[in-house]
Amino acid sequence: MQKPVLFSGMQPTGKLHIGNYFGALKNWVELQNSGRYQCYFFVADLHSITASFDPAEKYRQSVEVIADYIAAGISPEKSIVFIQSQIPEHSELAWVLNCITPFGELRRMTQFKDKSTTQAENINVGLFDYPVLMAADVLLYDTEVVPVGEDQLQHLELTRTIARKFNGQFTKIMQEPEPLLTEVPRLMSLSDPLKKMSKSMPEGCLFLDDEPDVIRDKVKRAVTDSDAKVLYSPSKKPGIANLMRIYRGFTNLPIKEIEKKYAGANYGVFKKELAEVIVEGLRPFQVRKKLLMKKSGEIDRIIEKGRKKAQKKATEKMDQVKVTLGIAKKPMKKTVTKSA
Ligand code: AMP
Ligand code: TRP
Repeated sequence: MQKPVLFSGMQPTGKLHIGNYFGALKNWVELQNSGRYQCYFFVADLHSITASFDPAEKYRQSVEVIADYIAAGISPEKSIVFIQSQIPEHSELAWVLNCITPFGELRRMTQFKDKSTTQAENINVGLFDYPVLMAADVLLYDTEVVPVGEDQLQHLELTRTIARKFNGQFTKIMQEPEPLLTEVPRLMSLSDPLKKMSKSMPEGCLFLDDEPDVIRDKVKRAVTDSDAKVLYSPSKKPGIANLMRIYRGFTNLPIKEIEKKYAGANYGVFKKELAEVIVEGLRPFQVRKKLLMKKSGEIDRIIEKGRKKAQKKATEKMDQVKVTLGIAKKPMKKTVTKSA
C-alpha cells in the first residue's frame, strides 16, 4: 500500500542554525524514521529569490542546505530530497493556481504584510505570490501532511482553500493537505532573547557549522540578566531560559533537572558547561557534513537522484492538471492486447 505523502522544505538563505535544527530538521528526521510516510524534503530556492540575493552564492547555498539535511539524518534512500527550481512543474502549477486564487485572499497574508515593511525596498510581485508557489509545491505531490512552524499555518490554510477551489471548479484531483504542528522549542537570539533566533540577525545565532571556539565565545557573550541564578522563568529571565532550552535540546535533560544540577552555580559555570554540551552535540553533525562535502561527486549524486524521483511524480501530476483544465489532449487509452 502507498504511504501518505509528507512534504516540507526550507529556503536557502544562509547557513542553518540550531533554531532550524530543533524547530524543524530534527522533527523531519523523526518523521522520516517513523516509516509512516513517503517523505519529500526540498530546498525552496525559487521562494528565496523573492528577497534580494547574490546570484554568485545561490546554487552553493542550495547545495549546502541539502548537505545539512543529509548530515542531520535525512536519508536520500528513504526520502526524496531535491531542489525546487530543478522541477519546472512547480512554477507551471503555480501559474495555473494563480488563475483560481482570489486576489483578496493573498492580500490578507501576514507574511506579505510583514515583509512589505522589513524589505520595503523590494516589494516584488513574487513576494505577493509566494503563498501560491507554496501551494503548488504541496499540491504537486498529492501531499497529505506538511510539518511546518506556526508562522506558515496561514499559507497552508490558503493551500487548502486553493485545493478546494480547484476541485470545485474542475475535477477533484487535488489532495487537501493537513498541517502537522509538533511542539517544538522556539529558540531565541543569543544577543536579544526577546527576538527569535533568525538568520536575519546572525550575531544572535548558533550555526550548525560553528567551530568549537566560536560556540564557546558566543555562549559566553549570550545576553542574560544580572540575577545570577540558573532558574527557568521565560518572562523574568528570558536569556537564561533560552540557554536552558538549548541545554535541554542537546541533552534531553528536563528543565527541572537542569535547575537542580546548577543550583548554586553562577552563570559563568553554567555557560561554560553549556558550551561544551553544544560543541559535543554538534560534533557528529559536523563530522558527517565534512565527510559528505569532501567525497567527490557524492552530493551531486544525491541531488540528481532526488531530482529524478521528484520529476517523475511532478510530470504525472502536471499532465493530469492540464487534461483536467482542458488545455491538453486526453491521453489515448491504452489498448489491451490479449496474448495468444
Ligand atoms: P526559516 O529559517 O525562518 O526559513 O525557518 C526554517 C524552519 O526552521 C521553519 O520550519 C521554522 O519554523 C524553523 N525555525 C526557524 N527559526 C527558528 C527558531 N528560532 N526556533 C525554532 N524554530 C525555528
Ligand atoms: N515557506 C516556507 C518557509 O519559509 C518554505 C516552504 C516553501 C515550504 N514551500 C513549502 C514549506 C511547502 C512546506 C511546504 O519556511
